[in-house]
Amino acid sequence: MKLWGGRFQEDIDALVLQYTSSISFDARLAPYDVAGSIAHARMLAECGIISAAEGRQIIEGLESLASEIAAGDVTFRLDDEDIHMNIERLLTERIGPVAGKLHTGRSRNDQVALDMHLFARDAANDILDAVKELQGALFAKAEQNLDVIVPGFTHLQRAQPILFAHHLLAYVWMLDRDKARLVHLLQQIDRMPLGAGALAGTTFPIDRQMVASELAFSRLYENSLDAVSDRDYILELLFTTATIMTHLSRLSEELVLWSSEEFGWVELADRYATGSSMMPQKKNPDVPELIRGKSGRVIGHLMGLFTVVKGLPLAYNKDLQEDKEGAFDAVDTVIPALKLMAGTISTMEVRRQRLATAFARDFSNATDLADYLVRKGIPFREAHAIVGELVQLAISKGTNLTGLSLDTLQAKSSVIEEDVFTVLDPQVVVEARQSRGGTASSAVKLQLALAREACGIE
Ligand code: ARG
Repeated sequence: MKLWGGRFQEDIDALVLQYTSSISFDARLAPYDVAGSIAHARMLAECGIISAAEGRQIIEGLESLASEIAAGDVTFRLDDEDIHMNIERLLTERIGPVAGKLHTGRSRNDQVALDMHLFARDAANDILDAVKELQGALFAKAEQNLDVIVPGFTHLQRAQPILFAHHLLAYVWMLDRDKARLVHLLQQIDRMPLGAGALAGTTFPIDRQMVASELAFSRLYENSLDAVSDRDYILELLFTTATIMTHLSRLSEELVLWSSEEFGWVELADRYATGSSMMPQKKNPDVPELIRGKSGRVIGHLMGLFTVVKGLPLAYNKDLQEDKEGAFDAVDTVIPALKLMAGTISTMEVRRQRLATAFARDFSNATDLADYLVRKGIPFREAHAIVGELVQLAISKGTNLTGLSLDTLQAKSSVIEEDVFTVLDPQVVVEARQSRGGTASSAVKLQLALAREACGIE
């Protein structure tokens, strides 16, 4: 007999049961469901809606059920549809009909809303920890490699040399915005929905504030329809995880490039790489590739839930059950991605010797030659054209700007003197960019200090 079976004369069709049931995925809400029920029962007793003895019986029953569930000693039944009815049934089996008093003044609609708030709060805190871990790994790698210069790109074409540390720190700042998004998300989650009933509130003299305090919420939903219909916080959880995955995906793409022989910037640790079943020489960056790949599903879950919610009338509709799998999967995808990325970054080796030769034949100092001409009084536009011609000339001679003789340079512009060669060295090029937020080592050291402070890095 269904818990709601009173008005039905026919048993539910097997396929309908399977289609509408959520126990296969909402079982993971069990600890939250029990915690919410304990707070609710305590409040019912406190308000005299059930007796103190009934309250105690229900709470003790729920507590021992929680340990059974945690120990894996309980099997949930498809027949009971979802986690809420499974737990009510299991409680009834243990303490008898008094269990039936637990659902007084409550509906599964506000119950599931509460469970999802509790889940989302834990998830946001776990993600926050994992983001901090990755920030720490990037920060440490930057600090250890302050003297390493790499080509910086635009359009994936060599642009200007930069410090490798500068490049890594860009991700530390991105992740810091992700942390701010998580903190904002936690504020949005911090509203307690229980007491909304099915949609309109309840006829019992409940104390919602008490339940909120018990479960560490600082605010209540002030509208019962909003309380059971709101999925904004799940959308925000998905947006935040999708943004983090997008950041990780960009970093993954860079790691795939950097670890290729064509770039040769880093070598991934053996334990963070995989081999090929056919080609004995291969060492593949599977972890970054999968992180890049899995970003798609998280972005998909965000779009999926937007589409579920956008046309729904108030208040609860069963469509809302579709909020769960995507949210769970997003959380289960982003946390290992963050941890694995932290491990990949902290164990990879920077190929310093290889990078030392990276500028032997490039033109990433061309802007600096133009800036040099500007300092000698030539308008920037004209300087740009002169250097462009010198680049063309060097390419035709199979060399770079420093490979051209002083005579050749002076033939294009008489203001060029012997000192030109000192400004074209990649090290000098990097050190010249001392503007706040620039790549000179003085600016990057300031940035490290600011990042340490802003991001709370130990
Ligand atoms: N399993 C449902 C969900 O996840 C719980 C709420 C069901 N409420 C109802 N009236 N059918 O949304």
